[in-house]
Amino acid sequence: MNYHSELSRIHWHELATVIERAPLGKRDPDFVEKTYRGSYVYCFVEDNGKLIGAGRAISDGVSNSAIYDVVVLPEYQGKGIGKSIVQYLLDRLPRRSVLLVSAPKQEDFYRKLGFHKLKTAYLRHEEIERWISEGYIEEKPSRHHIE
Ligand SMILES: CC(C)(COP(=O)(O)OP(=O)(O)OC[C@H]1O[C@@H](n2cnc3c(N)ncnc32)[C@H](O)[C@@H]1OP(=O)(O)O)[C@@H](O)C(=O)NCCC(=O)NCCS
Repeated sequence: MNYHSELSRIHWHELATVIERAPLGKRDPDFVEKTYRGSYVYCFVEDNGKLIGAGRAISDGVSNSAIYDVVVLPEYQGKGIGKSIVQYLLDRLPRRSVLLVSAPKQEDFYRKLGFHKLKTAYLRHEEIERWISEGYIEEKPSRHHIE
């Protein structure tokens, strides 16, 4: 397994397919490329040249960071690859504060990696209705929340 951060080796359609198959939702390849190019650190995992996992983080470089889009193809899950992706990102981020939003059902994966559940995290999102229906939002939605 090869862990690297060489953007020039990435075919964005292939990464969008890995994200979709993991599954973490359907993404437009151009959008995926923009999110990666705008990130502070990224990790790609290849098995004999085939992309099988990835993850990325944004950061101010000295204090605060956030990890996004950690994915491993289903047939490669449960082998420690997701953990290595998060470790690869953490090794390259300032350690003070690293935030992330776990997908529902993946919370214990992040707990095992030392992340603590926040009581007071808040999110604004353009697609908040989808986040509500997918089980990310704790509070009952009111008209105020959805505006
Ligand atoms: C979440 C994901 C990245 C984990 O990758 P993975 O390679 O299967 O995870 P690992 O094999 O590295 O697991 C590391 C540890 O977490 C545990 N773990 C993994 N997923 C878990 C889950 N959903 N619930 C509880 N424990 C989990 C493993 O058992 C392992 O435990 P151990 O260290 O005691 O042996 C992968 O399942 C995935 O791509 N899921 C779909 C996309 C997604 O939801 N990504 C998260 C976005 S926030």
